[in-house]
Amino acid sequence: MAANTVGREQWGTRAGFLLAAIGSAIGLGNIWRFPYIAYDNGGGAFLVPYLVALFTAGIPLLIMEYAIGHRYRGAAPRAFLPMARPAQAIGWWQVAMCFVIATYYAVIIAWAVRYVGFSVGQQWGDNPEQFLMSDFLQTADSPGMVSSYVAGVAWPLVGVWVVTLGIIAFGIRRGVETANKIFIPLLVALFLILVVRALFLPGAEVGLNALFSPDWSAITDGQVWIAAYGQIFFSLSVGFGIMITYASYLRRRSDLSGSAIVAGLSNSSFEILAGIGVFATVGFMAAQSGVGVNEVVTDGIGLAFVAFPQIISTLPGGATLFGLLFFASLVVAGVSSLISLVQVIVSSVQDRTGMSRGLSVAIVGGATALASILLFPTREGLYILDAVDHFINQYGIALAALVAVIVVGWLLRKFGMLREHANATSAVPLGIWWPITLGVITPIILGWMTWDSLRTELSTNYEDYPTSFLLIAGWGVVIAVIVIAVIMTLIPWRRTVPQPEDFHLNTVESGSR
Ligand code: ALA
Repeated sequence: MAANTVGREQWGTRAGFLLAAIGSAIGLGNIWRFPYIAYDNGGGAFLVPYLVALFTAGIPLLIMEYAIGHRYRGAAPRAFLPMARPAQAIGWWQVAMCFVIATYYAVIIAWAVRYVGFSVGQQWGDNPEQFLMSDFLQTADSPGMVSSYVAGVAWPLVGVWVVTLGIIAFGIRRGVETANKIFIPLLVALFLILVVRALFLPGAEVGLNALFSPDWSAITDGQVWIAAYGQIFFSLSVGFGIMITYASYLRRRSDLSGSAIVAGLSNSSFEILAGIGVFATVGFMAAQSGVGVNEVVTDGIGLAFVAFPQIISTLPGGATLFGLLFFASLVVAGVSSLISLVQVIVSSVQDRTGMSRGLSVAIVGGATALASILLFPTREGLYILDAVDHFINQYGIALAALVAVIVVGWLLRKFGMLREHANATSAVPLGIWWPITLGVITPIILGWMTWDSLRTELSTNYEDYPTSFLLIAGWGVVIAVIVIAVIMTLIPWRRTVPQPEDFHLNTVESGSR
């Protein structure tokens, strides 16, 4: 192995790695995205495409990312480089996307930080929507570029960045691993209390019936399958380069397939738990106000920052505690995912330049924080966030995953080698199902997803935003990340980092020694 990988940091324990991988997966997407997506796409029947997506794409892709990171011992760009020099562009594409996603993901955590405080005495008052949009975010009337700053969002955002970069600066074992060892048990404890409380609310069964009553006709609807695969990708953090980066710090003898199965199942279990908690609470609200569950359920931001505050205010007792538990869970789940996004950028730049960890955290972590602080705590921040989030997920993450499986599986024909590599150290041997699901089912679904979204996109402007705004905050961002990836690929690597030829000497056996 090339000299400069010898001193690579390592996770202290397998449990530490698993907790970090689970911490990355469990995030804002599990708590606010899953319940709504499941409800909207057939309720109980959604679990069928959801589980199919988990086993035919989520876990196989997770294993691929673990195997690439572990085999080539590098964050995303350096892990793709030895396969073929131009393939590193996929890694840089993922790095650029992590940069973009981290900038806005941090802001949602900052809102949740403020809402932990607002929960005390339910400071959002009688009209949580107006409170969120006008009093707290001071959102402008129409989308546009940055006009003025909102101090009440900016200072918690600075705090979120200080904590996140501080943890990463301590390194993989002392920082990321230790933080996740605290965060994940804390999150599970907070959330279990919340779910148990929610289940005892009058009307909880109304919400649960609404969530789990299967609408079997939904499973013949292609859109439902697209929603299931989309949810699995976002929620498992596959396609971001995160799992490649985390796996690059594993010891030689590491159970890759077993870890992917444990991480995948843990993430989905938490997701279903979140669905139960959220719908029990929503059912209470529906029963109290005599309306249907569908009138209470809204998507993403609306569910967490409007519907939940409203429900919390009407709870028969313990409203403040319930609010604290909910928003603190969002903060903890969010920070552990944010750490993983930023770690991809920091590790990739370290690999690329040989820079020390501290310097890389200061320079690239600092640049990510700065971009986040300059753009999002503004009166236009919400619109920019909404557009960037939609476009980068539809035409960034899913597209990069599609390109990765085609390049790795079809063009470079590496599935056989990666399978042998994973099997050499894993408890669960990968059968022929692995290359088949990954090489055939995953690209078909991803290609179909991208094509379908593109058709809608080209016929109607997302959220009816002005075209000029979408050209910058939507398409502009999608194209910018690709341009950055190409530029980074064209700049030659220093000889001190491994070159493709260095890896030809490494057989599967030596890689797993
Ligand atoms: N997997 C992370 C989430 O669910 C990104 O939010």
